[in-house]
Amino acid sequence: MGGNIVLVGFMGCGKTSVGRRLAHLTGMKLVDTDELICEDAGVSIPEIFAEEGEVGFRAREAAALESLEGLRGAVISTGGGIVLAVTNRARLRALGLVCWLDAPAEVLFERAARSGRRPLLQTENPREVFDRLLAERRALYEEVADFRVQTASLDHEGVARQILAEMASRRGPREKSPL
Ligand code: S3P
Repeated sequence: MGGNIVLVGFMGCGKTSVGRRLAHLTGMKLVDTDELICEDAGVSIPEIFAEEGEVGFRAREAAALESLEGLRGAVISTGGGIVLAVTNRARLRALGLVCWLDAPAEVLFERAARSGRRPLLQTENPREVFDRLLAERRALYEEVADFRVQTASLDHEGVARQILAEMASRRGPREKSPL
């Protein structure tokens, strides 16, 4: 186990915001794979999709994740589609404890569609695409995750605290931190 906490889940589940809270509460460094991709490409995610398509984006995503090998003590937040590749799923598990942030489809869709910055939902019928992707991916989040947190009725701080409680319950008594 690589000693990091890895956040996975569908678009709109709150990975980035919860990751920030977790990093703040623990003093751990925050690493966001989407941010790494944009820094490396020098352009935004919608621009990558427009210029290189989803295939190009997925190759960049796999490379960003690979670059994290050996990282320790970080909160790692990821893009919703990172679980699609089997190699990525193995890498996520090797990095540390994997937490799946989940919520009912209605809640995820409302949050994901609101921002208007997700290229996969910029279609004529975003709800149809959303439902298909969610159906395809749920089993993959479940496969890769050590545990799941339901986020709909919690604020970001509440989700972060639940993750910390889960982490503490998995450590031996002598390793427990006061958090
Ligand atoms: C994607 C989710 C996005 C981003 C890209 C593709 C996906 O991240 O990586 O637009 O395939 O679900 P968020 O989950 O942070 O929205």
